[in-house]
Amino acid sequence: MDYAATTPPHPDVVEAMLPYLKEKFGNPSSLHSFGQEAKAAVEEGRKQVANLINCQPEEIVFTSGGTESNNFAIHGVIHKLKPNKNHIITSKIEHHAILEPCHFLEKEGPAPDGAGAGFKVTYLDVDEDGLVNPEDVRAAITDKTALVSIMHANNEIGTIEPIKEIAKITKEKGVYFHTDAVQTVGQIDVDVADLGVDLLSASAHKFYGPKGIGFIYIKKGTRMTQFLRGGSQERNRRASTENVPGIVAIGKAAEIAKTELSERIKKTTELREMLFNGLLEKIPDIRINGHRTKRLPKNAAIIVKYVEGESMLLNLDLEGIAASTGSACSSGSLEASHVIRAIGTSPEDSHGSIRFSLGRLNTKEEVKYVLEVFPKIVQKLRAMSPLRRK
Ligand SMILES: Cc1ncc(COP(=O)(O)O)c(C=O)c1O
Repeated sequence: MDYAATTPPHPDVVEAMLPYLKEKFGNPSSLHSFGQEAKAAVEEGRKQVANLINCQPEEIVFTSGGTESNNFAIHGVIHKLKPNKNHIITSKIEHHAILEPCHFLEKEGPAPDGAGAGFKVTYLDVDEDGLVNPEDVRAAITDKTALVSIMHANNEIGTIEPIKEIAKITKEKGVYFHTDAVQTVGQIDVDVADLGVDLLSASAHKFYGPKGIGFIYIKKGTRMTQFLRGGSQERNRRASTENVPGIVAIGKAAEIAKTELSERIKKTTELREMLFNGLLEKIPDIRINGHRTKRLPKNAAIIVKYVEGESMLLNLDLEGIAASTGSACSSGSLEASHVIRAIGTSPEDSHGSIRFSLGRLNTKEEVKYVLEVFPKIVQKLRAMSPLRRK
């Protein structure tokens, strides 16, 4: 019940990558047949990924994952367009892999020779469901804006953002638009032409591929500097010998996602609704977190009043159920996540945030098991809770 944190690699994905860890170990830059075999595999992977998101293969650059793709988008655009453009617009509920590069840029002051005005970032508010208002994006754009970066769907609360509407505005204003689609690629339909974005990030381990491989879609003509400098791999966009087994794997994961997509959406939506309805029926004082309908099929995030997320997690773990209190990266800290705070949750309620997220191997029996076990855990914890006694 924690598929938003990561997913088990599909057996066919593992099968496809194995030869490239063994006998097909060539370096795609080598001119001999070992190298050319590896190069062909990389190009096949690129085609499979491009086919999933409806772009040209040469618009795909392979990276080490979502974090690198997001850093590449931010640094690549702003360093190319500075000093004329020095402003980025994003939202308060982005993943740390967007927020941290933005914070870093803000701290970089003007250049010693006075050239460039330093970088500025606008962090847009969201409503209580986590939705960005496209008109807020319009109002924030200035003649200094280089890039807007708004996530496709939020990893903690599952809300799907109005990307198409925002893209219309950025296009009209001549500003680049990046979306972090790490939670959506392979889970819902992601079509870059339809969305209208210039840049998009994704990561294989969120859609049944291995960890450490991802990609960034860079629309033809988008002006960016290199992020990793060195060799001329990936058409000079990203240096370093290609992760051939990883690329074969993400290609296969993309191919499988394309054929399984509607089935995945149907299955996870059904299981999520069963979970939501059961939880709302069996546990008093809980509410759904994130938008009720504009949400990822897999995401079942809730607020359980009068209990601590961490206690719920540990008790669930003892019963063999894996869940999360929000972003896997921020679990372990007692502070409410920036997402839960940004949607206006009271400090008291924010402690009771818990996220179940579903995937292709979950069953109705498993959901029934959660519905049997979880209400008892909540009841037990509430009986001990100081929040309850207040
Ligand atoms: C929305 C979002 N962006 C970026 C990332 C980072 O991806 P990766 O772990 O591949 O670096 C994650 C991972 O949790 C995510 O959920």
